[in-house]
Amino acid sequence: MGRVRINGAKNSALKLMAAALLCDEPLVLTNMPDLADTRFMAHLLGHLGVEVERSDPAQMTLCARALGAPFAPYDLVRKMRATFNVLGPLLARHGQARVSLPGGCAIGARPVDLHLKALEAMGAQIRLEEGYAVAEAPKGLHGAQISFPFVSVGATEHAMLAAVLARGETVLDNAAREPEIADLAHCLIAMGAKIEGVGTARMVITGVSRLGGTTHAVVADRIEAGTYALAVAATSGDVLIENCVPGHLGALWDRMRAIGVQVEPQGDTCVRILQSQERCSAADMETQAYPGFPTDLQAQFMAVLCRAKGASIIRETIFENRFMHAPELSRLGADITVHGREAVVRGVSELHGAPVMATDLRASVSLVIAGLAAKGQTEVNRVYHLDRGFEGLERKLSALGADIERVSGAS
Ligand code: UD1
Repeated sequence: MGRVRINGAKNSALKLMAAALLCDEPLVLTNMPDLADTRFMAHLLGHLGVEVERSDPAQMTLCARALGAPFAPYDLVRKMRATFNVLGPLLARHGQARVSLPGGCAIGARPVDLHLKALEAMGAQIRLEEGYAVAEAPKGLHGAQISFPFVSVGATEHAMLAAVLARGETVLDNAAREPEIADLAHCLIAMGAKIEGVGTARMVITGVSRLGGTTHAVVADRIEAGTYALAVAATSGDVLIENCVPGHLGALWDRMRAIGVQVEPQGDTCVRILQSQERCSAADMETQAYPGFPTDLQAQFMAVLCRAKGASIIRETIFENRFMHAPELSRLGADITVHGREAVVRGVSELHGAPVMATDLRASVSLVIAGLAAKGQTEVNRVYHLDRGFEGLERKLSALGADIERVSGAS
């Protein structure tokens, strides 16, 4: 049986790092993934005046003792959407901020209107000027009743990061319930924040006048764990995935069992994945906000279905343009037809290697999975997308028996 150890969650780490802006004492984050995205966020925070220290790759200490000008320039925000979440904490501490509107993966329009509305409800005055959000809260932020029209992970986190230091009570209704939200809440509570309803769709946050430092271990990356589980499903094998939270992936386990893969959670931190059939069965899947099937595992699941016995329908409900991997998978011989938000995957008995191009973070790893399942050699170009979210991917896959090598592109 192979074994693979999962890192802390990228999507959680980035928002936890933004939380360091909220206090003038050190925030020590452990179980940190060492990724291009966390390094990039550290760079932005450094620019804002945060002292960032990384003596060990899995630990980062951030201290916002003395902040500089609350200005996040385009060059430091455009590559990654999570950087936009510095706006709320900067406003809460400085009363003003100027933050470039974000970039990130090319998976649809991805606006930030809900983020801005939440901050406005808390008393911020925001204007959009030449690609920047210019925000002021001359009298400080105050509590507000915020009801999100639909679930947004980023907007929920952003509202939390501002509300913890706002005057009075903030109620967040229809809040996202992703494990990364609870992780952020637990860290903020350890820093002295008052948050009730963690893990539910209604959080009540009572602002405090100051927060202090703490040490917090980043929650396990459920997307990384799910990606390895799907790599096993695509290639056959028996792998123990360690240092994860199997309970965070219920929707994935349900779909994996539906296609005939054995999934055996072992305690609270491990899961064994067993795939003995040469080809799995077909099954339909729809992405949903947590606890539904994560949009960040859709591409990897599609890679598995390419060789299923029969046709499957995948429906992407979170992002309108998240099937860019489909034409690349077709280059390996997959039979996929995309109609708007739906993709029909007709399983083929064999995929064959080919050169392909990564288009976004999760799409790129789906090409790796399909390449491992294909006969012959696959060359994945633009692997820098992978480095944004998967630490040591080729090392971990090689240790599981994959024949994979980085031929160029910084790691
Ligand atoms: C989303 C995913 C998250 C994933 C991340 C990276 C969900 C609910 N969220 O988080 O799991 O890790 O992408 O792939 O699955 N939206 C607006 N206005 C806003 C904010 C969002 O219209 O101000 C829309 C988005 O375009 C999208 C939906 O709301 O269609 C959910 O977006 P949101 O959860 O905010 O995106 P991320 O935080 O990036």
